[in-house]
Amino acid sequence: MSDRAQEIYDVVGIGFGPSNLSLAIALEESRGDDPRGGTSALFLERQPSFGWHRNMLLPSATMQISFLKDLATFRNPTSSFSFVAYLHASGRLPRFVNNQDFFPTRQEFHQYLEWAQARVADRVEYGTEVTSIRLPPGTGPERADRLRLRVTDADGRTGRVIEARNVVISTGLVPSLPDGVERDERVWHSSEFLERYRRTNPAELRRVAVVGAGQSAAEITRFLYDELPHAQVWSVIPSYGYVAADDTPFANQIFDPGAVDDYYFGSEQSRGAFWRYHRNTNYSVVDDDVIRDLYRRAYDEDVRGENRLRFLNLTRVTGVKRAGAETRVTLQAGPGGEVRELDFDALVCATGYDAMEPAGLLGDLDRHCLRDESGRYQVERDYRIATAPAMRCGLYLQGGTEHTHGLTSSLLSNIAVRSGEIADSITARRAAAEPGGAVPAEAAAPAAGAGKDTVR
Ligand code: FDA
Ligand code: NAP
Repeated sequence: MSDRAQEIYDVVGIGFGPSNLSLAIALEESRGDDPRGGTSALFLERQPSFGWHRNMLLPSATMQISFLKDLATFRNPTSSFSFVAYLHASGRLPRFVNNQDFFPTRQEFHQYLEWAQARVADRVEYGTEVTSIRLPPGTGPERADRLRLRVTDADGRTGRVIEARNVVISTGLVPSLPDGVERDERVWHSSEFLERYRRTNPAELRRVAVVGAGQSAAEITRFLYDELPHAQVWSVIPSYGYVAADDTPFANQIFDPGAVDDYYFGSEQSRGAFWRYHRNTNYSVVDDDVIRDLYRRAYDEDVRGENRLRFLNLTRVTGVKRAGAETRVTLQAGPGGEVRELDFDALVCATGYDAMEPAGLLGDLDRHCLRDESGRYQVERDYRIATAPAMRCGLYLQGGTEHTHGLTSSLLSNIAVRSGEIADSITARRAAAEPGGAVPAEAAAPAAGAGKDTVR
């Protein structure tokens, strides 16, 4: 066990993507206001170095939110960790402004994230995977004040234990494949796209298919069409055509920090309305400019009398079989509709993601987390999972709270404010636990999803 591992941290963050990076910054910036000199924190990330969806860093892909929704600005507009501060440090601020564009490329935003993480890197361990969170041996939930994390190094063999008074789980979205489809050398999920593509000889890709009608699918289709001038690129889309993401100003208000309260404290009916009316701001939709880019390519082909870019609309993938070097894909047009099989050299499933699911990490500890009647976690407004009341250590979620906090849960839009709220909650609870401290209001308030409590 290393010296570091024997320490007990006020907070350990699991995963170091943008969400927990933003939390590290919030904790750093609150240090000066804290008479105790700050909150001790450690962040554990299984990747060997910082990376934000690296396998989708396609050359022309742009951000889907304004650069002002960076790691810090909405919480602290004068932060030295803002995107504008990064541009200034890089000497590109005037030229960026001349672009007159709110949406930088994903590659530039990635550079910004790397620049920001380098400034808090002394609190991060890369190449370290958390495999479980438990109560320390011999401790029940009654008044438990710390959690024990088991971690392994990149080799998967060297294990050790770290303890924390609070754990913030931010392990990200989970790639989803169609039922009956398994990944292999020629069946890829979009989350592994560039890595797989670069390992493949482009000359062997004469006929490729991309499944899905979301942003990932459209971007990969465009990329493959441009990169493989000798290949047919098939786009298998369940809709009649790509649907545009609604990023108009009124609809965009659902991503405002204030919308979290409206969702959290709203009725079941109003929460339903968020999803019914505004799912098309994010899921199964594509940015308008990418749609037009693809249509232009298809039309230009018509003019030239070519037919390399093909669309199979109203179609879903229902299975894949390996047939020698060929990938045989079963396609179904509509429910109960015509079924057919086509062979491809590679199949890219840009079929989306499931929400973050911490139950695997929690194991037996999950029994002490309260669930609502639908079996979902009850989560307090400060993103702390509602637990058996006597448990003093905190389990916080960054992600996986769509049912309680709304659409921003898996997105960047609100990470600065959300991280600030989590940092404040941890500080307030620590102060309350000190002699003479008052119980924070959150601890007494009912959690979203509260009703008939279920302790599993
Ligand atoms: P993220 O997934 O980024 O990070 C989680 C981290 O946890 C990963 O680095 C992972 O390695 C690590 N991890 C997982 N399990 C672990 C374990 N057991 N131990 C240690 N580490 C572990 N949203 C938006 O608002 N605007 C946008 O422009 C985009 N663009 C975008 C592009 C693409 C290609 C995708 C797939 C998604 C987006 N998104 C987005 C949504 C996306 O969820 C969001 O941008 C962030 O990635 C959310 O950051 P997180 O830190 O929560 O998760
Ligand atoms: P997504 O929006 O969930 O889209 C998944 C698509 O796959 C949907 O069209 C879905 O159709 C389809 N699908 C699922 N199973 C299928 C099947 N068996 N056959 C055919 N189609 C199937 O996922 P995503 O495009 O990966 O986007 C995820 C998140 O990442 C979003 O927030 C998005 O904005 C973000 N993103 C951002 C960028 C960027 O910033 N540039 C790039 C990529 C992604 P149904 O809806 O009918 O199931």
